[in-house]
Amino acid sequence: MNTLRPSPDEDRAAGRPPRIEILPAAAWAPTVAAELIARLAARPSLRICLPTGETPSPVYAALAAAEARGAVSFAGSTIVMLDEWVGLPPGDPARCDVRLRSELLDRLRVPPSLFAAIDVDGPDPDEAATRHDAAAVGLDLAVLGLGTNGHVGFNEPGSSPDDATRLVRLAVSTREAATARYGASRMPTAGITVGLARLLAAGEAWLLVTGERKAAMLRRALEEPEGPDCPASYLRRHPRLTVFADDGAASLLPK
Ligand code: PGA
Repeated sequence: MNTLRPSPDEDRAAGRPPRIEILPAAAWAPTVAAELIARLAARPSLRICLPTGETPSPVYAALAAAEARGAVSFAGSTIVMLDEWVGLPPGDPARCDVRLRSELLDRLRVPPSLFAAIDVDGPDPDEAATRHDAAAVGLDLAVLGLGTNGHVGFNEPGSSPDDATRLVRLAVSTREAATARYGASRMPTAGITVGLARLLAAGEAWLLVTGERKAAMLRRALEEPEGPDCPASYLRRHPRLTVFADDGAASLLPK
């Protein structure tokens, strides 16, 4: 561990602003992947919360390629899923576990020592959420995407920074994305998400944002007062938040 680095408490006391990395689109995924590779090299037992969706896909492709050439190993790491739809059958192409396996985990020669999926196939989703909350304690790194409605994970508008991992009702735009963007066989109405309280307690948080369609919400999240209309805005409370934005996503940020 790098002992020269300030502790989270020191960072918080210093009111450290987010680190904002604005990258050309072609450099975005390789840069994010390189930072993750560096974190894993520094701490092979990293506990990482990972999202699914369009945004992280090119990062996972870069990580899988790096692992294939021996440049990184996930062997000692634990991967904790950020969120999962409730109501999609096992194997559904939109399921977050299916996507994470096909885009990253199944492509690794040596998979992580532990993959904590969210058990949405049992009879009691509330109980599954409680079990997943335990897995989400003690994260070293929370990697997050940004919804066009301001959500992170399925922490939809109206969420609180004190929320634990829980069963949530999905916003209409999120439900529509399940079918329109991710190819779900039917539209889910609910999900389970790691809550903001756990994400804010992670050692580091990364917000990954690409494309002009996210530009207005990224500006909202970073430049306007925090509030429940944009749960991502609460991430600014995190003492070690890094925003990785490509040129398009950053196009409305102040120069
Ligand atoms: P996307 O979704 O990466 O598919 O754009 C992000 C999100 O809605 O959280």
